[in-house]
Amino acid sequence: MTNPFININEGSGILVGNLSSLGGAFIPDNLPHREEEISQMSRLLGSLMRNTRPSNIMVYGRTGTGKTSTTRYVVKMLTEATRGSVMVSYINCQIYDSQYSILITLVNFFSRSEEEHIPLSGWPMDRIYAELVRRMQESGKFLLIILDEIDKLVAKGGSDSLYVILKLADDTSAPCSSIIGITNNTSFTESLDARVRSRLNQESLLFPPYDANELKDILAYRTNGLLKEGVLEESAMNLCAAIGAREHGDARKALDLLRIAIDISVRDSKEKVTEVEVISARDRLEVDILRESIRSLPLHSKILLLSCVVTQEMGQRPTLTGEIFENYCNICAELGYQSLSSRRIGDMLSDLDDTGLISSKIQSMGRYGRSRLIQLAENGELLKKYLLEEDALSSFRGRKLGRQVRFKIGDEESTG
Ligand SMILES: Nc1ncnc2c1ncn2[C@@H]1O[C@H](COP(=O)(O)OP(=O)(O)O)[C@@H](O)[C@H]1O
Ligand SMILES: [Mg+2]
Repeated sequence: MTNPFININEGSGILVGNLSSLGGAFIPDNLPHREEEISQMSRLLGSLMRNTRPSNIMVYGRTGTGKTSTTRYVVKMLTEATRGSVMVSYINCQIYDSQYSILITLVNFFSRSEEEHIPLSGWPMDRIYAELVRRMQESGKFLLIILDEIDKLVAKGGSDSLYVILKLADDTSAPCSSIIGITNNTSFTESLDARVRSRLNQESLLFPPYDANELKDILAYRTNGLLKEGVLEESAMNLCAAIGAREHGDARKALDLLRIAIDISVRDSKEKVTEVEVISARDRLEVDILRESIRSLPLHSKILLLSCVVTQEMGQRPTLTGEIFENYCNICAELGYQSLSSRRIGDMLSDLDDTGLISSKIQSMGRYGRSRLIQLAENGELLKKYLLEEDALSSFRGRKLGRQVRFKIGDEESTG
């Protein structure tokens, strides 16, 4: 047999650079069409050059509008310019989602060696706070805290979860610090209580979506030197830009599409990257995202989603939450899981709504009060296929489903 890896290695030879430079971890040297935002943010942080504390800043904008990259780009230049007098701690609140874990991260950020690290649990909050203040004082540096995806922190812990971190910035007995909060959720601060909001939102920056032309420039810039001359068809790039623009001006989407399209051309030993590969890339990306978002759901959300699918299959749509709950209990019984209370299930339906897998609306049922109606946001067949791929659900056969199913089967028999 000829070695199969040799072919993979060769590919089509259209690639000159490294495709991973289009991935999310790569920070480009330039950010076309973010000049305005860069200069605004630099102006706001500029007081640090005069040793004055800058205001806290909130950065808003839809996903993929360059908030994270622009902020990191600006603070990188800031640390260079301030020659070590400013320490920047970047914290992703999707990972560090409590003020406890954030404070520990900050304290350990000031550790000079592993031995100085404080343990991840066991210390009370006020001790961690005091230790952080002590270490900041000792370092004599200004601390700039970037809380990316800050909405995740508040979603979990409410306004209170920002309290201690804001206190750090306001505490006159503590050395100076400021916060940059970043969020995709433009109505995020509305959920905060007024005191927290006004302290966090001293300045705000809104990142507008990129339009198709801007995305084209970004793609051209990011693919410069990546491929052999003439390989990347302009129409392919235009299509990626158009799709990214339609998805609320999302540069990440446009870049992902192009990266996958190029990858497909390389693997299929094509000479060019055309619209055809972009369309395959789009299909692949959508399937991947859907599968991934299902995979990452907690067990009972998976069961609940499966119940939404089968309940919708059974009859009228949109579907009533009561029926979904009933089928959820039946599926739990069939698979041998203890079902959760209807209240918990109500909360989990809201979470599924947030992930975009279902959509729900409240409808008045006249004198019966109000009820929530649920509709699947994705193709039910596809959802079911991915759900049943999960080990925890794979033995599902629908043996204990509600009366509608039996009714439907009876119906079919009588007509057949
Ligand atoms: N103006 C730009 N120029 C080049 N690449 C960009 C630009 N804006 C965004 N990107 C790229 O798009 C992707 C998404 O940007 P990111 O900053 O993570 O967006 P957000 O944080 O707003 O979701 C990243 O890979 C980033 O490098
Ligand atoms: Mg981001």
